[in-house]
Amino acid sequence: MKAVHNDLREWIEKAEGLGKLVRIRGAHWDKEIAALAELFCYKKKFETPALLFDEIPGHAKGYRIFFHELITPWAVAMTMNFPLEYDSLMDLVKAVHRKFETLQALPPRKVATGPVMENVLRGKDINLLKLPVPLFSEFDGGRYIGTSDCVIMKDPDSGWVNLGSYRMQLHDEQSTGLYISPGKHGYLIRQKYFERGLPCPVAVCLGQDPLLSLFAGNEVPHGTGEYDLAGGVRGAPIEVIDAPETGLPIPARAEIVIEGYCTPGDLRAEGPFPEWTGYYGSSSREEPVFRVKTLMHRNDPILTARHELRSKSFDFRSLMRSALLWKELERAGIPEIKGVWRYEQAGSRFFNVIAINQRYYGHARQVLHVAAQTAAGAYAGRWVVVVDDDIDPANIDEVLWAMGTRCQPATDIEFINRSRSTPLDPLCFDKNKNYYTSLALVDACIPYEEKASFPRATGATPAYSDEVYKKWRWLFEGRSNE
Ligand SMILES: Cc1cc2nc3c(=O)[nH]c(=O)nc-3n(C[C@H](O)[C@H](O)[C@H](O)COP(=O)(O)O)c2cc1C
Repeated sequence: MKAVHNDLREWIEKAEGLGKLVRIRGAHWDKEIAALAELFCYKKKFETPALLFDEIPGHAKGYRIFFHELITPWAVAMTMNFPLEYDSLMDLVKAVHRKFETLQALPPRKVATGPVMENVLRGKDINLLKLPVPLFSEFDGGRYIGTSDCVIMKDPDSGWVNLGSYRMQLHDEQSTGLYISPGKHGYLIRQKYFERGLPCPVAVCLGQDPLLSLFAGNEVPHGTGEYDLAGGVRGAPIEVIDAPETGLPIPARAEIVIEGYCTPGDLRAEGPFPEWTGYYGSSSREEPVFRVKTLMHRNDPILTARHELRSKSFDFRSLMRSALLWKELERAGIPEIKGVWRYEQAGSRFFNVIAINQRYYGHARQVLHVAAQTAAGAYAGRWVVVVDDDIDPANIDEVLWAMGTRCQPATDIEFINRSRSTPLDPLCFDKNKNYYTSLALVDACIPYEEKASFPRATGATPAYSDEVYKKWRWLFEGRSNE
């Protein structure tokens, strides 16, 4: 098996080699594939396999859909070329955080051509309906072609190339919607073209290396290139080709890429969509239309898709956003951050916990206020909780114990009003265009001045517990002590 995968196909091969891929034939694009994918998540939880659907009714054999590329810790670890086993989620967050500390960004490398150019269709030959685009549920506004995509756009002033995952509803053979929440980087770039009365060039990968999805779907700082970060993690640049119509750099080894334009005033109703909040929060409204000028795909292309579930065991966004928030707190000069977890059950955004080793008066409140307003933390943050470092922030049992026993609600909870939210937030009322949220800052640390005198917590000391665990580990792993 190769150490680092080069594209989605090699990733799938690796997952299959590990026994973590299930091939499914004959499931229907009309709700059945999505319902099956959802069942796997709820029943298998941390052991959810990746799913590759083929022989989809109404579609050519070989035109496949791939679900669940990053919905388990092993999948993220494999994508980043890390060891696959971790004792706890926090150990994996620490591994990602350490990677960010040493990461050397590597800009993409231009090549003349690549597998994505095996089929290049333009004009009347483009028919997006040939792809097995899933309908997730009867309550959706339509079939969604872009749910695990990479939308590539270039800032018209600086030339910075941004990648983001933004949803795309299929309108017809040659056009889609492109929903981007206000303030996202893709939104800001598109806004610049529109304010100048110009069409905005867009290229979209609809099937790509999960390493690109890892960065496209998370809030890396403004001006940072996701291609460069992905290249840094791989240790080799991502190979890109200039797209024939827009000249935007597209991954040479992608499965499917479409390129074209959003034009000022060209709008069409989009949604509802089953969103990451677990609701159809933003309902349906007029959004920019994306008109496709070129469709490129490999032979037997694989469309990547992702299901947003209202409560899931794990999601790569929690992991990446935890590590990104941790990095931003350090960048703000705050010492002794020991762990960060952004709960997937709250959309990896609404409920965030940070563990610190308190070193000075006000340390805990400083963490709360800064975390609430970092680039990574501000968008749809609703709860920030700070705990001492004897608490694992990814263990909700321990977090609740700290909140119950170390937080005096009348003095240890503060609020911020009119903080950043999104039209997708079910508590934001669309008719008023009121996209603010209030934010609760919960100090669940032992009061700093009482650290030495606070009652001792029950249980073995962590050091002794570790020692005993090492000695008796076999008991917990169901092995004999031979
Ligand atoms: C699978 C997936 C789908 C997403 N869909 C959307 C979407 O439809 N609209 C949106 O604004 N953000 C969406 N996001 C979140 C953005 O991708 C994320 O905020 C990312 O940071 C955006 O890139 P940017 O920071 O460069 O704007 C999605 C994320 C993932 C992982």
